[in-house]
Amino acid sequence: MLEVRDLRVRVKGIEILRGISLSVKSGEIHALMGPNGSGKTTLAYTIMGREEYEVMSGDIFFEGKSILGLSTDERARLGIFLALQEPPQIPGVRVSPFLVTVLNKKIGQTDLSKPLPPPLMKEVYEYLGKVGLNKEHLSREVNLGFSGGEKKRSELLQALLLKPKLVILDEPDSGLDADGVKSVAEIIESFRKKGKGILLITHYARLLKHVKPDIVTVLHKGEVVARGGSELAERIENEGYKFLNGGNKNEH
Ligand SMILES: Nc1ncnc2c1ncn2[C@@H]1O[C@H](COP(=O)(O)OP(=O)(O)O)[C@@H](O)[C@H]1O
Ligand SMILES: [Mg+2]
Repeated sequence: MLEVRDLRVRVKGIEILRGISLSVKSGEIHALMGPNGSGKTTLAYTIMGREEYEVMSGDIFFEGKSILGLSTDERARLGIFLALQEPPQIPGVRVSPFLVTVLNKKIGQTDLSKPLPPPLMKEVYEYLGKVGLNKEHLSREVNLGFSGGEKKRSELLQALLLKPKLVILDEPDSGLDADGVKSVAEIIESFRKKGKGILLITHYARLLKHVKPDIVTVLHKGEVVARGGSELAERIENEGYKFLNGGNKNEH
């Protein structure tokens, strides 16, 4: 579904990703780990086509076709969704009309403020409960005054409603308590069951106690330094990132 091939990426003139390759298949959870600053978020943004992220060489294929020439919007329409590590606040825009706009766009409605068809509205409420938010949430301004965990839940709500083929989750567990981590894990498992490809970015291995990744890739300084199965995540859980250079890379 997703194939990243020997990708080199520059941000503001500085090379951040230095030859990354990885792939995500349908129904597969590929965990992307690595210390802070290793380039995980940069890879997520580059897959999504964010502007400042300049691809110097390599390619990104989605369902067999290069997406490098496509805008972020076009990539989203193909079925790629990124749940942001730090979702932005949108003062003045309330969650409910925001979701209505996004979903109307998704179903091809030209009047983006038109009330959603009842079955879609039903889904909004259903998934609201699933991510652990309530109706009151819909009348709040997007991410304004939300706790870290509420922002993450709100991102997941969008992922559930938009039904992408590939879900990229950038540290979906940050700011969540133990119960929150479990509910995020359940949602990720439900994505896998539906046959979505999942690129799960996580600094800590604690989420990977609840979701078993098929593949674990470890980045360090913009390069892939380790790849393996779920045992690699267990090793990181126990030892941190020291093993990368046997040195002081244990950034927590
Ligand atoms: N927009 C940007 N402007 C400047 N530097 C950036 C930008 N995005 C990322 N970087 C740099 O790229 C490196 C990797 O960052 P990032 O991808 O956020 O790492 P991670 O998500 O693994 O913690 C860091 O050194 C960071 O400072
Ligand atoms: Mg990051």
